[in-house]
Amino acid sequence: MKNIIFDVDTGIDDALAIGYAMHSPEIHVLGITTTFGNTSVEEATRNTIQLLDALGESSVPVYPGVEETFAGHEPLEKTTWIHGQNGIGEAQLPQPKQSPQSMQAHDYLIKAIHDHPNNVTIIATANQSNLARAIQKDPSIVEKVDEVIIMGGAVKTDGNITPYAEANIYHDPEAAHYVFQSKVPVTLVGLDVTMQTLLNQETVENWREVDTLYANALADMTEFYINAYKEHNNEARGCALHDPLAVGVAIDSTFVTTKAMHIDVVLEGEEKGRTVGIETNQGNVHTCLEVDAHRFVEHFIQRIV
Ligand code: BDR
Ligand code: CA
Repeated sequence: MKNIIFDVDTGIDDALAIGYAMHSPEIHVLGITTTFGNTSVEEATRNTIQLLDALGESSVPVYPGVEETFAGHEPLEKTTWIHGQNGIGEAQLPQPKQSPQSMQAHDYLIKAIHDHPNNVTIIATANQSNLARAIQKDPSIVEKVDEVIIMGGAVKTDGNITPYAEANIYHDPEAAHYVFQSKVPVTLVGLDVTMQTLLNQETVENWREVDTLYANALADMTEFYINAYKEHNNEARGCALHDPLAVGVAIDSTFVTTKAMHIDVVLEGEEKGRTVGIETNQGNVHTCLEVDAHRFVEHFIQRIV
């Protein structure tokens, strides 16, 4: 079983990723850190706790991050057109049962990695500010973390928040740059593969038949997400399982094929947030370039509700 720390901006597909992980016996979630992006840190924290409650997993501790980019700027506006005003497509869940932890996200990452040397995988499905802060404060964690699986970037395809940039990198490009150059072992699960993993409306309707608080909330938020994709592109056959694919890779790395790359992040100008990949045997970023989308989506559907 792998010890996992999630770093999230919950977020509809973050919620799907957390649900998938909690239903996967290969994974043991030690704790969850939160950041801004799809929504604010406060809302991402609340959404995460409410989801854990609905999953019957209220004992998993949640550590809020800092509401500021690595370079000290205010976060960009939240992406309400994809994730709704509350970050989870206006799905309603009961008041949170637990309070957020008082320890800050980056301090928790440092502590957990030292508590479980070479036995922690971080699944980061949001911007990189918590991890960058943790590495800056204690660079020794780079050698002690097993793997960092990041949903982010687009090496061969276009971006999604700008024509060049993927959202998680764009929300804090300096943090992503800092993490990539730190030499921490990264597996990058970007739009090159996640845009092929589509979930359709029919599946969501099946969840409603399960009729639990959790399944209904998941159906509400995912319907919002599918509609947002349709508004953006009439031809869309569903929504992309961006963040769940990062969990899929942690469970079974054969869902994807990767190439070792050096990744640069463009920090200024029109292409800000773009991830530029250069193939090299010395590269510390294992970049996903192909995915067995059908097998992964089936696996996800089997487990999610
Ligand atoms: C990523 O950005 C966020 O909107 C999603 O939750 C996902 O992590 C996709 O680009
Ligand atoms: Ca996310």
